Amino acid sequence: MTVRELQDQIIKLKKETNTAILAHCYQAREIVEIADLTGDSYKLSVDAKSTDAENILFCGVHFMAETAKMLSPQKHVYLANKHAGCPMAEQMDAEMISALREADPDRTVVAYINTTASLKTVCDVCVTSSSALKIVKALDTDKILFIPDCNLGDYVRRQCPDKDIKLLNGGCPTHAKITVSEVLAAKAEHPDALFLVHPECTPKVVELADYVGSTTGIMDFAKKSDAKEFIIGTETSISEHLQYDCPDKKFYPVTKDIVCHNMKLTTLPDIYNALKGISGGDGDAFEILMDDELISKARRCIDEMIRLGG
Ligand code: 13P
Ligand code: SF4
Repeated sequence: MTVRELQDQIIKLKKETNTAILAHCYQAREIVEIADLTGDSYKLSVDAKSTDAENILFCGVHFMAETAKMLSPQKHVYLANKHAGCPMAEQMDAEMISALREADPDRTVVAYINTTASLKTVCDVCVTSSSALKIVKALDTDKILFIPDCNLGDYVRRQCPDKDIKLLNGGCPTHAKITVSEVLAAKAEHPDALFLVHPECTPKVVELADYVGSTTGIMDFAKKSDAKEFIIGTETSISEHLQYDCPDKKFYPVTKDIVCHNMKLTTLPDIYNALKGISGGDGDAFEILMDDELISKARRCIDEMIRLGG
């Protein structure tokens, strides 16, 4: 079967099964093409709530499907590849953060959405890369513990000098591996290009940026900009999607190995197989199952994120 034939089968099956496919922008081009909704973590969490479909098939990583389930508990939510997890989401757990809360009870715990549902139950508010700064500024407290990403936390802290923001040593292994010398080499090779960077990168890399923003923020900036060339400091898919969307501009990934292998685990055959399972056929759909107590406890900080960030 060709890629196009498989995409056609998927489009037919998603209609038959009343399934909406939600794909994070780090998914491969052929997946984004058959998705009903695409975007960054914030956009997908909000859109997951508004879709009328009975089933949601998530192409991304586990915490994203979990968030969609918490926001739409009446729907069946599936993860297209059950092995796709975010390493950052596993770096800290509820026990560890509860102990820190007890030791320092005046601090508001702000959790990046890249965390497990279980960890969210002991946090006060979630943020995504696009909403973190706005939400931290909006909080009526100055004492904050920001987890788990110290790079995103540092980016927020620099812009909120009046707040006492404590960080822990967590972060995204994919973004953290972009080095200053790689950025300088890319800038030397493309001297007219603007450098657009995700705040999960290290502070020294972020300092070199012309624009800092979430996945969707970077894409919107590049589309609206009058500039013609861009060095992209985030997962390589973004350069590829932008090149399709803006054929008259040029996009260069800062290096070709900024790949999130977890995001890239999902394939078109996984999606086909999951839809077959949803249809009651001989496929294998991995459903996100969560008990009501976990949903209601973990959801509080997601609702708070939407209230403050929307
Ligand atoms: P955003 O989707 O908020 O840009 O975050 C990027 C990311 O690494 C998701 O896991
Ligand atoms: Fe997690 Fe980083 Fe991959 Fe996003 S890019 S899913 S934060 S490892």
